[in-house]
Amino acid sequence: MSEKIYIFDTTLRDGEQSPGCSMNMHEKFRLAQQLVKLQVDIIEAGFPMASAGDFECVKNIADHVRGAQIAALARCNAKDIDRAWAALKGAEQPRIHTFLATSDIHLKHKLKMSREQMLELAVASVQHAARYTSNVEFSAEDASRSDLDFVCQVFGAVIEAGATTLNFPDTTGYALPDEFGAKIRYLIEHVPNIHQAVLSVHCHNDLGLAVANSLAAIQNGARQVECTINGLGERAGNTAMEELVMAVRTRADQMAVHTDIVTEHIYPTSRLVTTITGVPVQPNKAIVGANAFAHESGIHQDGVLKERTTYEIMNPRDIGISTGNIVLGKHSGRHALRDRIAEMGYTLSEEELNRVFVRFKMVADLKKEMFDEDLEAILMDEVLRIPEAYQLLHLGAMSGSKSLPTAAVKLLIHGEEAEQAAIGVGPIDACFRAIAALTRTSSKLLYFSVSSISGGTDAQGEVLVRIEDQGKVVVGQGADPDIITAAAKAYLTALNRLEYLKKELPGKAEA
Ligand code: KIV
Ligand code: ZN
Repeated sequence: MSEKIYIFDTTLRDGEQSPGCSMNMHEKFRLAQQLVKLQVDIIEAGFPMASAGDFECVKNIADHVRGAQIAALARCNAKDIDRAWAALKGAEQPRIHTFLATSDIHLKHKLKMSREQMLELAVASVQHAARYTSNVEFSAEDASRSDLDFVCQVFGAVIEAGATTLNFPDTTGYALPDEFGAKIRYLIEHVPNIHQAVLSVHCHNDLGLAVANSLAAIQNGARQVECTINGLGERAGNTAMEELVMAVRTRADQMAVHTDIVTEHIYPTSRLVTTITGVPVQPNKAIVGANAFAHESGIHQDGVLKERTTYEIMNPRDIGISTGNIVLGKHSGRHALRDRIAEMGYTLSEEELNRVFVRFKMVADLKKEMFDEDLEAILMDEVLRIPEAYQLLHLGAMSGSKSLPTAAVKLLIHGEEAEQAAIGVGPIDACFRAIAALTRTSSKLLYFSVSSISGGTDAQGEVLVRIEDQGKVVVGQGADPDIITAAAKAYLTALNRLEYLKKELPGKAEA
């Protein structure tokens, strides 16, 4: 019989630890709702002790998101655990996730603690958390580089203390699949009460092995996998959920396990994460990369046309990737738009639908053929972009082979209209200069990319920027048929994020 693998999504916590990847409260809430649609089992909403902003984000999700367990991270101390519970207590199914390192490297250099002290603190912390809820997860940070018999001792003791999920992280991404799988087997064979808890893994991708290590763990008895959308996470990231889930599904002949993930929501969720974090997915990324189902060689194309399975081991539709059909046009009405958006997996309020419809008509007038990707770009722009410090009201730009590139920009800044014109090396440079003058900011542009959403010269352009100001790095995304407008939107999104970071995240504690 096929056993269930619990999917623990940590995009909102470990994923947010990707450089430049912070999300605001509205964005985190949206993503949590999408994760429920995807049917993840547990959403790790954040680390409440890290900052007031993190606390509010976790609380908002715990109080309002239904249909998944909501976890919050806490170090092994009473203050962190109390704070995690204060944020979580409104959840339908709250989980306290507390962690402490077991490796001698961490004990000696970071914690300055003996193994005995570590064991005592882990037990006391789990007991403390278990007074609030029977759903307690304990993570042995840096477990893969720890003495395995010591981890067995710790796991046995924290189960006694009330832990119901035991997580074995490869914190530094050091493990190899065979070795990691054998460690999981060893735990199952040497922790006498292990069957009273769910054994979990949390793998980092420093050697590109996070998915392979997670699969090896499953094959040796782990039943929860911690992962993130698009593999985001600290340094090289975490196990990519889409890769793990599709490997389990596609190779069900090799593993008698399944997940409850609704795979048709994978691609929309990946796009949502790209939009709200501004971190693009590499084109050759498995499952959700732009080239994941593109067949370049003539022989392959011929094979796929004759029979899809000659070169495709998965059906793109099972991942929610559109087949490139024209879905709507400029004569399509609100009902058709609402139905298509629902089919794509999004539920909008009336007010949101109104905004999306107005934008849809504007783009459809210019573009004639609307693909799912176009709708998605509009959705991201209209529904996710909350009115913040700076909003674009109007933009005019002029350029040409002989004329001086000029831009005139009108913004709403904290509710007040302001206008500025500037010249630059090109129209985007002129536009960015005008915005910088209007917002009185002096950020440094680290990265700029423009790509087209769907094909053709009338395609919408998608711009991603990464900027830095006083050591803070943020990203921004914008889409529009006019690429200068798309660039201005991306730049303003990034500036709005900087404002948010300055307000919300002073002195953030770290996991
Ligand atoms: O990588 C890690 O060890 C973690 C723990 C907090 C689970 O993120
Ligand atoms: Zn981690």
